[in-house]
Parts: sequence; C-alpha cells; structure tokens
Amino acid sequence: MQIPVKIINPNPLQDLLQRPLRELRMSVIDRCNFRCTYCMPADSLQGRGVFLPLVKLLTDHEIEDLVYTFVDLGVRKLRITGGEPLIRPGLPGLIQTLAAIPQLEDIALTTNGVMLPRLAEDLAEAGLGRITVSLDTLDETILREMSGGKARLDQILEGIAAAEAAGFKHLKINTVVQRGVNCHTIMDLLDHFRGSGHSVRLIEYMDVGNCNHWDAAEVIPSAQWIERITARWPIQPIQQRTAAETAQRYEYVDGQGEIGFISSISNPFCGGCTRARITADGIFYTCLFSNKGTNLMPLIRHNADPAELQKRIRSDWENRDDRYSEERGQPGQDQKKVEMYRIGG
Ligand code: GTP
Ligand code: 5AD
Ligand code: SF4
Ligand code: SF4
Repeated sequence: MQIPVKIINPNPLQDLLQRPLRELRMSVIDRCNFRCTYCMPADSLQGRGVFLPLVKLLTDHEIEDLVYTFVDLGVRKLRITGGEPLIRPGLPGLIQTLAAIPQLEDIALTTNGVMLPRLAEDLAEAGLGRITVSLDTLDETILREMSGGKARLDQILEGIAAAEAAGFKHLKINTVVQRGVNCHTIMDLLDHFRGSGHSVRLIEYMDVGNCNHWDAAEVIPSAQWIERITARWPIQPIQQRTAAETAQRYEYVDGQGEIGFISSISNPFCGGCTRARITADGIFYTCLFSNKGTNLMPLIRHNADPAELQKRIRSDWENRDDRYSEERGQPGQDQKKVEMYRIGG
C-alpha cells in the first residue's frame, strides 16, 4: 500500500506572477502512431535518434516518485500525455498507482483514440477519471492528410465508442483547426457530436515547437467560429469553472451540450496558467513554448535525494515568469522551442 504524502509545504508555491502550481502534465512517451502535420510532420523526423531510446524514459516508479513530489508542492490535477501515451507498455498499471495518490483530485489522459478499443476498460478499472480524444475532422481524406497518412476515422470512432462503453461519459474532443485544411469540415464535426454528451473544443492552430513551420495565416480566431456557429445553432457562454481553464466554454441554447474554444493565439490565457510539464525523460518545463527546461533525471535516478528534487522544482516555479502567448511576436522571444510531441501539449 502507498504511504500517504506528508505535506511538508503548507504554503502554496507561487511563481513571480502569483500563479500557484496546480496541474502537472506528464508525458509518458514521445513516440506516436500518427504523424500529424501540425505536431510531428514525417519529413521532420528523418535520421536516427529522433525519439527517446526506451532506457531514457522515466520508469513507472520514477514517474510515481515525481508525481508525489509535485503533489507535495501543490499539484492536484494530473494529465497524462505523449506523443501517444497509450503506446507506453503497461500504462494502465502506472495509472492505477497514480490514481491511488490521495491528494490528486483529477487524473486525465489525452489520446488519439486508436488504442482505446484495447485499453479503455483497463484504464477505467485503473481509476483514470477523464479522457480527451484528438479528432480534427470526419472527412476521411483530410483526416489522413492531417495525420500524415496514419489515421482512420473508423478506428477513432471505435475508440470513442470503447471509452463510452467503459464508462467515460463526457469525453472532450480536441479539434485543431487550420485554415484551408479542415475548416470547411468543422460544422459537420460539431453536428456529429451535438447531443452526444461529449464536448468538442476547437483549438486555434498554435506555434508550438518549430517543425510544423507554423504560419499565422492558417489560424482562424475563435470569435469567427462563435459567430458562425451561433448563426446555425445559437450558443451562450457558461461560467468558467476556474481561472486556469484553457477553454472558454459555451453551451448550445437548444440543450444539445457544450462546446469549447481554446484561443491561445487570439485570446491568450497565461494569467491563470498553473500548469507544469514534464517530458518522458524527465525534463521540467514551466511553459508549453519554452526552449529551456530543467533535466530532473539526475535528481530522480539512482535513489537521488528527494529533498534536492523538491528544492529544484520549487526554485524553478518560484522564478517562473512565462507568458509566451501574451508576448507572442514581441522581440526577444526565443525562436527555438521544444516540440509538441516531446512536451505533450
Ligand atoms: P482539462 O481542463 O483538464 O480538461 O484539460 P485542458 O483543457 O487543458 O485540455 P487539453 O489537455 O486537452 O488541452 C487542450 C489544448 O489546449 C491542447 O492543444 C493543449 O496543448 C492546449 N493547452 C493546454 N494547456 C495550455 C497552455 O498552458 N498554454 C497553451 N498555449 N495551450 C495549452
Ligand atoms: N496547435 C494546436 N494544437 C495542437 N495539438 C498538437 N499540436 C498542436 C498545434 N500546433 C493538439 C493535439 C492534441 C493536443 C495534445 O494538442 O491535437 O489534441
Ligand atoms: Fe501524435 Fe498527438 Fe502529435 Fe498527432 S498531435 S502526431 S496524435 S502526438
Ligand atoms: Fe501557460 Fe505558457 Fe501557455 Fe501562457 S503560453 S498559458 S504561460 S503554458
């Protein structure tokens, strides 16, 4: 049985902008069975050594220790990310251990959905609370193109059905919108999920990493979607649950459910950002758009001193002043950034 965390830090940790540390986004593997053009376009992955060798990944035990340390520093929400997290062997076992941490109020996972038919039930039994599935379009041809030839719609829809059958009732469906790519298929996607109990979130295409060669001209501001959607199905804003939410939530006035808008480009939300991120090999980032992270591995592996690990995380958070999205385009921003499939979104 797990020994409950001893809370040795009763005062909430805060960064330089008075933002507490509340959420940890833990990448468990950088590999993926898709090659989404906005995340890891196949042509950027040529050559050996792109992905982490498996021996470099944090072990289940190391991840558990790390999560305990973050919980001790104030984290209450955990999201498991990748690459594609379901590729990591034995993920349900790891989730079972993490779900047993008493102070964690929420444990969620972001996946492309393809492996859910095999794993959804095990994940539910392990204690996973919530699942987000990425799905950009219902158009088979465009889906193929956006996933680098890898995604099949029937497999993703089967994944969603498997999650429902395993008891995950309110999924989030993440949809990255790119002008000239999938924008003309968005209304069909929304129509499909209206009344399903799941919430589609339209995500403005972001300049995460460098390999996607982001172009601002491909971003459609959420305000335009709100107008377009309202013309067909009136929607109204819902009260945010917390200041840290990434999505502005709306509901269909006719009672057909919720929809969200993640507007990192047109309406950044750094002010409430309480999210820390760890890569699968133990690099700690305080912003999705960072280039510089702290390698925690030497402080974790080979029974290193837990107090040193905690001290390092504490000091990085206390010195944090990141607000990349609010400063986007200003001189002095680091042009080189960690890739999305390493930092996990
Ligand atoms: P919950 O609130 O826990 O349901 O999760 P979430 O809204 O953070 O959702 P999710 O993890 O699915 O993230 C949705 C999208 O928002 C992803 O594309 C993320 O990369 C993006 N996102 C999440 N956190 C941040 C952030 O701190 N900054 C920016 N710019 N984008 C973020
Ligand atoms: N812009 C916006 N969202 C992105 N995602 C991956 N890359 C980008 C990007 N460049 C989304 C994926 C997934 C989540 C982890 O991040 O679609 O839902
Ligand atoms: Fe894989 Fe997700 Fe990146 Fe697509 S966005 S390549 S599914 S990690
Ligand atoms: Fe947080 Fe950085 Fe995203 Fe701003 S850009 S919300 S600081 S992760």
